[in-house]
Amino acid sequence: MKCLVTGGAGFIGRWVVERLLRDGHEVLALDDLSNGRRENLREFEGRPGWLGLVDGDLTRAEVLQPLFKAHQWDLVLHLGASIHVQKSIDNPGPTFQNDALGTFQVLEACRRQYFEHNGLNFDAKHFDFDRDVPKLVRRAPRVAVMSTCMVYDLAGDAAIREVHPYRPASPYAAAKIGADMLALSYFHAYRMPVTVVRPFNTYGPFQKSNSEGGVVSIFLKRDIERSPLLIKGSGQQTRDLLYVEDCAEFVVAAASSEKAEGRIINAGTGHDVSVNDLAQLCCTAGNRVEKVPHDHPQAEIMKLCCDASLARELLGWQPRSSLEEGIRKTRSWLEQNRWAW
Ligand SMILES: NC(=O)c1ccc[n+]([C@@H]2O[C@H](COP(=O)([O-])OP(=O)(O)OC[C@H]3O[C@@H](n4cnc5c(N)ncnc54)[C@H](O)[C@@H]3O)[C@@H](O)[C@H]2O)c1
Repeated sequence: MKCLVTGGAGFIGRWVVERLLRDGHEVLALDDLSNGRRENLREFEGRPGWLGLVDGDLTRAEVLQPLFKAHQWDLVLHLGASIHVQKSIDNPGPTFQNDALGTFQVLEACRRQYFEHNGLNFDAKHFDFDRDVPKLVRRAPRVAVMSTCMVYDLAGDAAIREVHPYRPASPYAAAKIGADMLALSYFHAYRMPVTVVRPFNTYGPFQKSNSEGGVVSIFLKRDIERSPLLIKGSGQQTRDLLYVEDCAEFVVAAASSEKAEGRIINAGTGHDVSVNDLAQLCCTAGNRVEKVPHDHPQAEIMKLCCDASLARELLGWQPRSSLEEGIRKTRSWLEQNRWAW
C-alpha cells in the first residue's frame, strides 16, 4: 500500500514509518520539523519503499494538495500535532491550528481524493448520502487519526474504556477531542473509512528527553548524566506506559482494518504505574529523586489506566514489551545516541 504519515519525523511517527516499511509498504512522511527531526528517518534512506520526507506544514491546503495530486494514498496515518500540554495552556493558538484545523485539512484532502477518484464533484452542492455513497466504490484512502488518552476525565479504580467521559483539561485535550469528532463525522456523513486511534502515554527510543519529550526519557537522561530525577507534584499520578513499537503496531493494525472503521480505539497495557514508582525504576544507585512544584496542576490527570479490550477484540492486538524491558531498551538507546538529548 501507499502510505502517507503526517508527523512522520516525530517520535511515534518514526516508528510508524519503520513498521510500514517492514511490512513492505511505500511510505512518505510529511513533517514541518517543528518538533520532529530529520535524523529520526536517516536510516531509512535507500530502503525499498521509502519515498522520503516532505518538509511542509500540514495545516496548509497548498502543501497537501500537491501530495495528493502526485500520489493516490491507500493509508493516511495522521500523527502530526502540537503535543505540549503546558504550551497549549500558555498559548492555545498554535495547538488549535495544528491539531484541530490541521486535522480538518488532512481530512479534506482525503475526502477530495475519495470523491475525485470516484468521479464525484468535490465542490458540488447537496451531497446526497443515499444517492452518492453507493457510487463511492473505491475505499481508499483509509485514514487513522491519532488521538490521546489526555482527553479522558479522571476515572476511579476501573481501567478507561472508549465510552469513558471526556474532560478537556487543557486546550491540547480540547483540540484533540474536536479533531476526533470531526474525523468520525467523515465516517458518518460520507462513509469514509476513518478510525480514531487513542494510545495511552507512549515511550521509547527517539522520544525527546527535554521538555518536549516524555517522562521516561526525561528521567533516564537525567539518571545517565547523574542529575536528580525531578517529580512534578506529588508523584502519585499514574500512567499506563506503552512501549513505542507496540504503539506503532497498534496504529498500523487499526489503520488497516475494516473492523476499525468509524471507531475510537484505545491502546495501553492495562497496568498503571505511579510517577514515584517510575522514578525508582529509572533511578540507579548513587542518584536521587526530588519533588518540584507542578507547572500545570489543573491539567494533570491523576490516574490513567487503559482498558484495551476493544483493540484486542477488533484487531487481535496486544502489547508485547514489559515496562522493565522498555525502560532497558530506552536507556540503552539514550546512552548510545547522545545526539538526540
Ligand atoms: N507521546 C505520547 O505519549 C502520545 C500518546 C498518545 C497520543 N500521542 C499523539 O501521537 C502523535 C505523535 O506524538 P509524538 O509523541 O510522536 O510527538 P512528536 O512531537 O514527536 O510528533 C509530532 C510531529 O508532528 C510534527 N508537526 C507538528 N505540527 C505540524 C504541522 N503543522 N505540519 C507538519 N508537521 C507537524 C512535529 O514536527 C512532530 O514531528 C500526536 O498526534 C500526539 O498527540 C502521543
